[in-house]
Amino acid sequence: MSKKYKKILLGVTGSIAAYKAGDIIRRLQEKGFDVSVIMTKEAELFITPLTLGSLCGKKVYQNLFDSIDAWNIDHIQLAGDIDFLLIAPATANIISKIASGLADDLLSCCVLATQAKIFLAPAMNSEMYKNKIIQENIKRLKNFGMHFIDPVHGKLACGTEGEGHLAEVDDIVSAVMRLS
Ligand SMILES: Cc1cc2nc3c(=O)[nH]c(=O)nc-3n(C[C@H](O)[C@H](O)[C@H](O)COP(=O)(O)O)c2cc1C
Repeated sequence: MSKKYKKILLGVTGSIAAYKAGDIIRRLQEKGFDVSVIMTKEAELFITPLTLGSLCGKKVYQNLFDSIDAWNIDHIQLAGDIDFLLIAPATANIISKIASGLADDLLSCCVLATQAKIFLAPAMNSEMYKNKIIQENIKRLKNFGMHFIDPVHGKLACGTEGEGHLAEVDDIVSAVMRLS
């Protein structure tokens, strides 16, 4: 990396693979990134903001309206202050929201408001992943210049095996490093 501390915003969404976000934070820090975290409401059902906040050493961003009375609007400030935005794990829901230009939570607002390079590491049930709607949405986002770190074959939350397992943490971090 050319600059010592590049700023990366890690978006964590409501997948069983959310527990891997802690490892992703650590690996990114080891590579010299300054990591901030946004969690969706559903992600908080899988891993706590306390855990991820302790690992990244700062407040985890959660709600769109948290800082509104200070006129210090989180999504605009955050979006303008980062070099990279990595969503890992990325649910079918967030992929489709982004593909439709929706902005109904802090993470989706940041995606629309940022000029940073955007990476998504999908994780979901293999039937969901293969679904034509999701594949079309992924294609659409790639056409917009977003980078995907493809899921791999592995154990899934539903107890089956298939394509849809979150890529290895090292592969996620390497993909970001390659473009940093
Ligand atoms: C146990 C459990 C595991 C889930 N795992 C996934 C998953 O790996 N990928 C996915 O796309 N959705 C998964 N879901 C569904 C999402 O949590 C749901 O679509 C949610 O609305 C996503 O919200 P978010 O994208 O705002 O975080 C899971 C749901 C449950 C109950």
